[in-house]
Amino acid sequence: MAPLTFLGIESSCDDSAAAVVRSDGTILASVVEGQAALHAPFGGVVPEIAARAHAEKLDGCVSRALAEAGVSLGDLDAVAVTSGPGLIGGVLSGVMLARGIAAATGLPLVGVNHLAGHALTPRLTDGLDFPYLMLLVSGGHCQFLLVSGPGSFRRLGGTIDDAPGEAFDKVAKLLALPQPGGPPVEAEAATGVARFPLPRPLLDRPGCDMSFSGLKTAVLRTRDALVAEHGGLRRQDRADLCASFQAAVAAVLAEKTRRALAESGALVLAVAGGVAANGAIRAALQGVCDALGVRFTAPPLRLCTDNAAMIAWAGIESWQAGLVDPANLVARPRWPLDASAAPMIGSGKKGAKA
Ligand code: KG4
Ligand code: ZN
Repeated sequence: MAPLTFLGIESSCDDSAAAVVRSDGTILASVVEGQAALHAPFGGVVPEIAARAHAEKLDGCVSRALAEAGVSLGDLDAVAVTSGPGLIGGVLSGVMLARGIAAATGLPLVGVNHLAGHALTPRLTDGLDFPYLMLLVSGGHCQFLLVSGPGSFRRLGGTIDDAPGEAFDKVAKLLALPQPGGPPVEAEAATGVARFPLPRPLLDRPGCDMSFSGLKTAVLRTRDALVAEHGGLRRQDRADLCASFQAAVAAVLAEKTRRALAESGALVLAVAGGVAANGAIRAALQGVCDALGVRFTAPPLRLCTDNAAMIAWAGIESWQAGLVDPANLVARPRWPLDASAAPMIGSGKKGAKA
């Protein structure tokens, strides 16, 4: 049977993206246009600016993806589009563009859950078999999912407030480091010593839920104490504070991962999201997996962070499993993958959490 070819469209947060992917796992093109420069003056993603930028950029991304892939609309089998969860204006831009393409070409449409896109990526990049445990850690997401099929996700826990990437970003802001905060905080931490006693939130409670907002407040208090003591924040103190913060995040993620692996019995851990780029966090997760004899995988970073190849791939997987539901084409700001899990109250700067 000839492989299927899907166009994927993603616009749920601050990346406009389009990709062309085949069911044999070939990524023919993956175009991502970020909006970091547009949001930088505001210190966070501004939903209205994001929606407008998606509306302006998405069709260009689609044209580029088709050109790079060397295919025309007539060569496609379907269009897959993120229909939630995320910032509603951006999601609507993508869904409307996909509907337009479908109306003009007669191609079928597949509405994809953005989190399913992240969660199914290791099948595209590493050919993982079901089941596996996915830890999604980014600026907007933080959850453990036991992935047992293209539409079968069990949520084992997640953040009750901020996502870890959001905490890195806020800590960077507190310490006058640039945005997004993860890379500069990691760079500072590399020259520091984790000597400040910061909390390890929720480690004293059973289960896999996490919390990062108290940690950020503890960083603020420590910073203020240092400033009061020395009349300003000294270079080495800033590096030590970054190292202490990063060590706390890594310790919490490692221990909760150990619990999620024990609870699920999964033999493979896959990590995705921008925070997976952090060397100390990766090393901590690798350590947990080594101790338990569990395989550890992380898709390449460009497929770990927001992109449209994962949306095309999740569309292909749902299509092949007969799970395509027209009801999924309604743009939804909130859309938990595991409808049986208790809803979370957190809602981060990058939009609604699922
Ligand atoms: O997955 P992503 O590109 O976008 C979404 O949030 O969906 O993740 C971006 C987040 C930002 O909060 C950024 O600060 C964080 O990932 N991040 C990092 C690192 N690189 C990016 N956090 C910690 N260490 C890093 N090296
Ligand atoms: Zn994402």
